Amino acid sequence: MTIHKPNRGLPDQEYESDVSFGYQEVTPEEKDRLVREHFDSIAGKYDIMNSFLSLGFHHLWKRKAIRTLAPEPGWLILDACGGTGDLAVLAADRIGKTGSIIICDINFAMMEAGKPKILRSPVAGRIAFVQGDAEGFAFRNDSFDAVTVGFGIRNFTRLEKGLREIYRVLKPKGRFLCLEFSRPTSRFFNALYDLYSFVWMPLAGQIFAGTRKAYTYLPESIRVFPSPDRLIRILEEIGFSRVIHKRLTNGIASIYLARK
Ligand SMILES: C[S@@+](CC[C@H](N)C(=O)[O-])C[C@H]1O[C@@H](n2cnc3c(N)ncnc32)[C@H](O)[C@@H]1O
Repeated sequence: MTIHKPNRGLPDQEYESDVSFGYQEVTPEEKDRLVREHFDSIAGKYDIMNSFLSLGFHHLWKRKAIRTLAPEPGWLILDACGGTGDLAVLAADRIGKTGSIIICDINFAMMEAGKPKILRSPVAGRIAFVQGDAEGFAFRNDSFDAVTVGFGIRNFTRLEKGLREIYRVLKPKGRFLCLEFSRPTSRFFNALYDLYSFVWMPLAGQIFAGTRKAYTYLPESIRVFPSPDRLIRILEEIGFSRVIHKRLTNGIASIYLARK
């Protein structure tokens, strides 16, 4: 495993304004720390809690995301914020023996938690790990055929900086596949979802993962994240083209596919 020490040393850091960590307004440095602590605290239980709280839907969403990306044999793919590696394993199945995937995540514990699952998979030899920050990748410009991010950009401290980095490391015409939570479109479903995510999720987090705090941040971070329309505008302003948006399960999650 290559370790790239995250380096966010912005010269103008002290002038950065506060950012959201769920419903809290915090400094960018605090958010960096809180996100790190959040994933440190849930890494060991991440996969099982994901399946439990999404009632298994996250597997379907991830499969659909990779079908939408349609990776081709020989591709070099970056799974940014790859965590425990679900998207990487699904994509690795499609790129053949000549393709490769790099899982890049800022959190070592998340990648460690996913390693046994990846090593058991028949495509393990196509996947490498790099610890690194998506807001300042250690990769050259125009390197990857595709970048995937599953449920990661919501945690960025500087969303546009991270998206610009993804754009930078993609080859011209390279594809960006983003899977992220959004909001249900039906009012009835939205009310049910609020109940589920603000009452049941924190309680389940407390009972089954030993952390109420982490599973309070999760629904809050979804509520404060830009809407699909806003995110599409941000992607286009950065330079992405042909942005496609697909809603999943009444809009609980969304797939975005864009080209450099
Ligand atoms: C909700 S998990 C998603 C994991 C995996 N992609 C999935 O779909 O199951 C979000 C991941 O993003 C990572 N992350 C958050 N901010 C990051 C950053 N700036 N650079 C790289 N990884 C980051 C976290 O460490 C965590 O592993």
